[in-house]
Amino acid sequence: MSEVRSPVESDIMAHYSRAAGHIGLIRLANPPVNALSSAVRHDLCRALERASADTGAKAIVLCGENGLFCGGADILEFSKKTGGPALVPLINAIEAGEKPVVAAIEGVALGGGLEMALGCHYRIAHCQARLGLPEVMLGLLPGAGGTQRLPRLIGFPAALELITTGRHVSAEEALTLGLVDQVTDGDVQEAAVKFAQRVADEPLASRRLSTWKPPCPADLDTLLQGALGRLQSRARGALAPVACVHALQAATLPFAQGIEKEQELMATLFSSPQARAMQYCFFSQRIVGKWSLAGRANWKNTPVRTVHRAAVVGLGTMGRGITVTLVRAGIPTVAMEMDRGQLQAAQQAVTAMLEREATKQKRSLDSYLQLVQFTLERRHLQDVDLVIEAVYEDLALKKRLFSELCAVCRPDAILCTNTSGLDVDVIAGTTRRPEVVVGMHFFAPAHVMKLLEVVRGPRSSPVAVATVVHLGKLLGKVSVVVGNSPGFVGNRLLKPYMEQANFLLEEGATPEQVDGTLEEFGFAMGIFRMSDLSGLDVGWRVRRESGLTGPAVRPEESPRHRLGCRYCPLADLLCERGRLGQKTGQGWYLYEGPEGRKALPDPWLHGFLDEYRRQHALKPRRIDQQEVLERCLYALANEGFRVLEEGVAAGPEDIDTIYVLGYGWPAHMGGPMYHVATVGLSAVLTRLEHFHRAHPDVPQLQPSALLRHLVAQGSPPISKWRELVRVQRSQL
Ligand code: 3HC
Ligand code: NAI
Repeated sequence: MSEVRSPVESDIMAHYSRAAGHIGLIRLANPPVNALSSAVRHDLCRALERASADTGAKAIVLCGENGLFCGGADILEFSKKTGGPALVPLINAIEAGEKPVVAAIEGVALGGGLEMALGCHYRIAHCQARLGLPEVMLGLLPGAGGTQRLPRLIGFPAALELITTGRHVSAEEALTLGLVDQVTDGDVQEAAVKFAQRVADEPLASRRLSTWKPPCPADLDTLLQGALGRLQSRARGALAPVACVHALQAATLPFAQGIEKEQELMATLFSSPQARAMQYCFFSQRIVGKWSLAGRANWKNTPVRTVHRAAVVGLGTMGRGITVTLVRAGIPTVAMEMDRGQLQAAQQAVTAMLEREATKQKRSLDSYLQLVQFTLERRHLQDVDLVIEAVYEDLALKKRLFSELCAVCRPDAILCTNTSGLDVDVIAGTTRRPEVVVGMHFFAPAHVMKLLEVVRGPRSSPVAVATVVHLGKLLGKVSVVVGNSPGFVGNRLLKPYMEQANFLLEEGATPEQVDGTLEEFGFAMGIFRMSDLSGLDVGWRVRRESGLTGPAVRPEESPRHRLGCRYCPLADLLCERGRLGQKTGQGWYLYEGPEGRKALPDPWLHGFLDEYRRQHALKPRRIDQQEVLERCLYALANEGFRVLEEGVAAGPEDIDTIYVLGYGWPAHMGGPMYHVATVGLSAVLTRLEHFHRAHPDVPQLQPSALLRHLVAQGSPPISKWRELVRVQRSQL
């Protein structure tokens, strides 16, 4: 063994003891998730040796402490050089042992944890346990035999789906798949001990998955090709899902050869920049949960109010998804609209969405419907703990509504707005209790997207923030606490990104060229396709209201300049012609008809761009992919530095989490701040300086003070930025 371990009992991370009826019990003890660190692997080897040498033990139960089996390999150790026994031979040794080993799974069995359970001869799960091989989410593949044992156990199609998506399955589904042998709603260790007593004398040969015949479905090639196609369109350029498919393909070989291939592919992924980026995303999503506010309030010391009953006001696109999210989490919800027609339409839509949920979760629709109360009456808001407002993006309307809410709701009820960018403090100012008002910015579709921006207004109380973050977690969201700046973080950074894309059209690019480059970079959808999907009128309305376009513009003003800065009116011109995107069948692209999905290049649009450039004496030039990426993505990240400077976001991890979970930034590229850190801050600064010299009327290309400061500090690693940017006047 490469390290010397302390013999103190409390330090031991895999305890061996004896349970009733001649059963040996090994308990993993490495809180919080019993990750298989080198020390755990070391102690597990020792515990296995003791169990096999214990003549009084006929079978062994393997379980975890603190209600959790095992969260897999220790991800923190991936970036360190560690010793300890390797996991593959350790799992092989469990499987090859002469005494039956029963895995007692509660909490989770994930990644290496599930692979270890697959090396056991039997698996018993608690009914609330979750199982999965999520390595693909970390840029890896199940590299401890998972790609070889799982398809042998549950068949190729199911293994392919689980390994390439990283999806967790419930104990019930695991039983149906044949992944576990028994599910219990009682004490899983007790059940496993009883089970072990029963099977102690059974022959073991047929329980060793590595000896099972490799699965070889007749349609394997079609299955694999289909999977590759789907994966490449879902996560373009991502290496891990493709490697997962190749490793699974090797499961048709004899076990030892399959493992060899799995190891080879794992080694390539393990050292890849993509794996580092995805692991950064994993830890970022945990870092953002540890919020703190100016003063001393933080995630640890702030009490949370329980939300027993919630309300959603405004049941349009967002309100419907938010209602489904609340109901799915078991929270009784009042769902309110402004008139009977809208209420009926919403009730129908929400019921249909809940029906789909019920089918997916194998629950009755009634069990969901009894949690929703559809209503037009304000008095039903009297006893709710929290309200989420999702009416039109109209400040006057929201102000009116909040002063009504303040009058009708309990004084301690938390009042949230789902505004995409209006001033939360102005809305709060219309109430007598600004401290209970918080922004709760969901992303569309609200029942699918994992991101929640929690907007802390200057007067929002820590308890209100903590309650909303906690509720977000109950709803399955990752909450990022941000300051009250126009567009908050996500939409604020989107503006310079979109502007650059528009300027590139003026200079000679086409929407297809810009989108193609962004999609090749890894975005699921380029910016123009995305705008067509959301509707071009959304931004148009905001620009009209802020006087950038429409009747408020003075006739003598140049169409391509506003307040001395460059402005691109192309999107406004499309809207004026009724081209609002997918909903009208035309936008930056052509669709088969209104609500059509397939974006086709539009010859009319190309002609329109030519004519526009002629009108404005713009000489089109050839723009290469590098420039498209640099202009769009560096402008976005530059705004990210400003957001950090102003204390609107606490650290780069917050911005990156928002972009990966809310805006389709490819996780294998880490996020915008991670991306520029990887490119090199000094190189990014040089390019921004170059672009700003070429476009002096575009202030967003002017490098931010923080970027300059970081470069002057020698470009410290991204993990250090949080400390360095601790600002004087944080907006959090
Ligand atoms: N290694 C190291 N640390 C881990 C970890 C792991 N596998 N899993 C979780 N943690 C840490 C988290 O970073 C967090 O630390 P912090 O308190 O310092 O922030 C703490 O454990 C608690 O985690 P969560 O906040 O995520 O707690 P939850 O209760 O919400 O979720 C979980 C628990 C479902 C286990 C979730 O943490 C999770 O999904 N973990 C990752 C599981 C995973 O991907 N496993 C595969 C690892 S790779 C592997 O096994 C390779 C193998 O094939 C060889
Ligand atoms: P929508 O237009 O689809 O729905 C708004 C709903 O509010 C309508 O059903 C309307 O009848 C109802 N309503 C209006 N006044 C009301 C009142 N006084 N009482 C009760 N109901 C009333 O709007 P959408 O898209 O759902 O947006 C809602 C809010 O969410 C806006 O603030 C928007 O900026 C924000 N948002 C929208 C996103 C999107 O992608 N659509 C994403 C994130 C936030």
